[in-house]
Amino acid sequence: MATTTYPSPDTKALEVLYTRDQIAERIREMGEQISKDLAGEKLVMVGVLKGAAPFLADLARTITVDATFDFVAVKSYAKGSRTSSGAVKLIKDLDEPIEGKNVLIVEDILDTGLTLAYLRKLFLAHHPKTLRIAALLDKPSRRIEQIEADYVGFAIPNLFVIGFGMDYSERYRNLPDICLMPPDAV
Ligand code: IMP
Repeated sequence: MATTTYPSPDTKALEVLYTRDQIAERIREMGEQISKDLAGEKLVMVGVLKGAAPFLADLARTITVDATFDFVAVKSYAKGSRTSSGAVKLIKDLDEPIEGKNVLIVEDILDTGLTLAYLRKLFLAHHPKTLRIAALLDKPSRRIEQIEADYVGFAIPNLFVIGFGMDYSERYRNLPDICLMPPDAV
């Protein structure tokens, strides 16, 4: 399996799960599908900060419909750890109203589903015209809340991943490939 390095003396070579080329190709396919599904419509892409930023930036550039961006930020407790606790809090709200609009929530990874179930409920209360979810990664085996994404990049087993926006204690977001977090890493 391919490995990559991170410019830090305490990090060993990291195993690459998906290369930047594989990610780009899959995002292109997702963008094509989204563009077909929303042909002739306007779209608001709502990125979930911070992890979805690279995904949103790349996905947006493959989408051919009239699109605008908005961002929300949530805090889920036990951040920076490998466990999720269940409590989700909104720490940055939408800038613009979404009533009557086609909304696409853009998230890096759908894990327990707590974050997206919370956002879906919150957004539906604003009566968008349509509400869809795009997740670059999906870990279906970890689900606590009943929720599926409309567009999934890659479904993966219960692995902790870093890179392409995804962090471990805020580090590694800038890795261009999606890598496996070594079990013994700090
Ligand atoms: P959920 O609410 O459990 O679905 O978690 C969603 C959030 O948990 C993601 O947006 C990530 O911030 C974080 N997360 C879940 N799994 C991973 C992972 O493998 N690596 C990095 N972050 C993760």
